[in-house]
Amino acid sequence: MTPYAYTPESLKVLFTEQQLQNRIEELAEEMNHLYRDTEVLIMICILKGGFMFASDLARKLNIPCQIEFVRLSSYGDGQKTTGTVKPVDLTLPRLSNRDVLLVEDIVDTGLTLNFFMEYLESLHTPKSLRLAVLLDKQEARQRPVKTDFIGFEVGNEYVVGYGLDDQGYYRNLPYIAHFTDTDSQ
Ligand code: IMP
Ligand code: MG
Repeated sequence: MTPYAYTPESLKVLFTEQQLQNRIEELAEEMNHLYRDTEVLIMICILKGGFMFASDLARKLNIPCQIEFVRLSSYGDGQKTTGTVKPVDLTLPRLSNRDVLLVEDIVDTGLTLNFFMEYLESLHTPKSLRLAVLLDKQEARQRPVKTDFIGFEVGNEYVVGYGLDDQGYYRNLPYIAHFTDTDSQ
């Protein structure tokens, strides 16, 4: 197996840490208002990519929250979807009659969220089901996905950082970047 070429020098910042935090603050304000009468909001973070967005967002919410995690996988080690969504861990509490907010890093082809939202609707009967994605790669969409909160729109290019990876790397970056040198990916 060829070793992974870790090339942070070929990254170009798309959204700075400050831009991300400012936008998340705005989203949190909208959510605090929308859910102001909610008894408990069930936030479901979709792993692995959603962990940073969910953790920063959760810290800005002033409503009672229960935070849950599921893990779905469709990319394997590559930069393209394998076309099938692998449910790695879908352990969840009862969601009937609860307000549920899904938190995901990016909606790309839409396969993952189309699958998961249909799964939730068919198995559980939440009072409300909404979706917050940090990034929306609209051009790549193959399946319809209804998004309620969107951080930023991005073009059809591979992005990393702030939870998003390339073969497991770059998730720890506090900003979102793309590769300038396509050979190094
Ligand atoms: P989908 O194609 O909408 O099913 O996207 C599935 C998952 O692939 C997302 O939740 C991300 O974790 C990952 N993904 C999609 N596009 C990118 C990207 O540009 N960079 C890193 N991960 C991505
Ligand atoms: Mg993801």
